[in-house]
Amino acid sequence: MTDLQQETAQHGEHTAPVEAWDAIAALYDEHVAPGESELATAGLRLARLQAGDTFLDVAAGTGGLSLPAARLGAKVLATDWSPKMIEHFNARVTAEGLDAEGRVMDCHALDVPDDSYDVTGSQFGVMLVLDQAQALREMVRVTKPGGRVLLIAYGDPGEFEALHFFISAVQAVVPEFEGPPDEPMLEFQVADPDVLRQRLTDAGLTDVTVDTSNQERVTVRTGQQLWDWTIGSNPIPGMLIADLTDQQREDIVRVLDGMIRERSGDDGALVLTAPLNIGVGTK
Ligand SMILES: C[S@@+](CC[C@H](N)C(=O)[O-])C[C@H]1O[C@@H](n2cnc3c(N)ncnc32)[C@H](O)[C@@H]1O
Repeated sequence: MTDLQQETAQHGEHTAPVEAWDAIAALYDEHVAPGESELATAGLRLARLQAGDTFLDVAAGTGGLSLPAARLGAKVLATDWSPKMIEHFNARVTAEGLDAEGRVMDCHALDVPDDSYDVTGSQFGVMLVLDQAQALREMVRVTKPGGRVLLIAYGDPGEFEALHFFISAVQAVVPEFEGPPDEPMLEFQVADPDVLRQRLTDAGLTDVTVDTSNQERVTVRTGQQLWDWTIGSNPIPGMLIADLTDQQREDIVRVLDGMIRERSGDDGALVLTAPLNIGVGTK
């Protein structure tokens, strides 16, 4: 374990160690990444990615951003510290025959030469890491002069509908459940667009813009789908409910079923949104 991985592990339930990301990689691949392609493509367009460009994805997971980049014709290197995430990514690349490669790498120390990528991006990845300033400096270092750095992050947690649905359902079954910790979570450290703009500028980028017009849209029809999305999207929800019994888990899924039925349209589908900050700067 590196020093940073040790520090991450010591943050307990406030952040997740690499093993916890490995443990949810299959759920992430099946239930989370496929739904991200629209917002990823919006981000790649804002970063002006062109067919034939080289694209580096940092904290890439199973390819929520890398697969859309490769489908647009970029030559992609996807990096993540979780070997299981990269395994799933490589399987998708082989299945689709894309021009992309996955490699295990910590975002705080990228094993990539200086000035080597046309566009470097991170979607819901560098957003949540412990030393975000260092990770952003690394993204800038490996980008070619004139190239762009893209960071896609969640906006205001108060408007994160899927998260609030899940917490309400858990509280309906376990009234003493407290939810996430009171102190600000690393996941939302750049939820304020001005903070994101400042961090990109501090990392050495110019012409920094932060777009707030896009949303994440998670479509669900059943409580089980929302459960799988929530538990698969980040290890923290699973860590917070680790002590619940199987019966309590089944009850939560039933409560979610009812909440979705109440609010869904005629087709039975409910779209849960979350605000996004899409930051782009030029090196
Ligand atoms: C919420 S997922 C986002 C995955 C992907 N970028 C996407 O858009 O679907 C966060 C990812 O960050 C990775 N991650 C967390 N800390 C990391 C670190 N220090 N170095 C590299 N990857 C890291 C996790 O393994 C996980 O795959």
